[in-house]
Amino acid sequence: MTTMAILISGRGSNMMALAERCTSGDLDGRIAFVASDRSDAPGLDGARRMGLPTALLPYGERGRMAAEEALSDLITREGVDWIVLAGFMRLLSPSFVDSHRGRIVNIHPSLLPSFPGVDAIGQAWEYGVAVTGVTIHLVDEKMDHGPILAQEALPVLPTEGRQSLEERMHQLEHRLYGDTLKRLFRCRLTFEGRRVLFDN
Ligand code: GAR
Repeated sequence: MTTMAILISGRGSNMMALAERCTSGDLDGRIAFVASDRSDAPGLDGARRMGLPTALLPYGERGRMAAEEALSDLITREGVDWIVLAGFMRLLSPSFVDSHRGRIVNIHPSLLPSFPGVDAIGQAWEYGVAVTGVTIHLVDEKMDHGPILAQEALPVLPTEGRQSLEERMHQLEHRLYGDTLKRLFRCRLTFEGRRVLFDN
């Protein structure tokens, strides 16, 4: 079974969707802990309610380097295979990424490289795109950047408002993250240039 650490900054709906898939046995994974950079992240309560261990990373009081050291210590102690970013709104340092390269995965609510950064759904909505979508990628040193593992497009319906689009995007995220991790945990990755291939 694959061991994950999930990092969140907010609501934690992607984390909860992954936790439910682990509980049901659909995803052959174990969540060692859920960590947040924010003590007021509502997802921390959600994780506790699901019986998952939580950790607060001391970004606020001690800065990024100390927070990442604390995170690395937990990862080593818990034997974590994959660091899963689920709405974690901090840029990891180049040295952290280097130490855990190829073991950090992120979800972003746009078809990257369009609309990186905060409020990607709002950015796409304001731009007036006809098609948006969700990207899951390995994490490198840049924000919302790195080799793409999965992308799925979602057409913006001519009749819908922003709230409807957000709800449909989150539904897509919750499905696609679990499906992609399932493949990731079963397969070996090979790289052809920037393209990632899943080998059984
Ligand atoms: C999700 O839409 C996720 O893709 C996004 O934050 C949201 C967190 O929601 N991540 C990014 O924008 C990363 N740049 P959640 O806390 O309910 O899972």
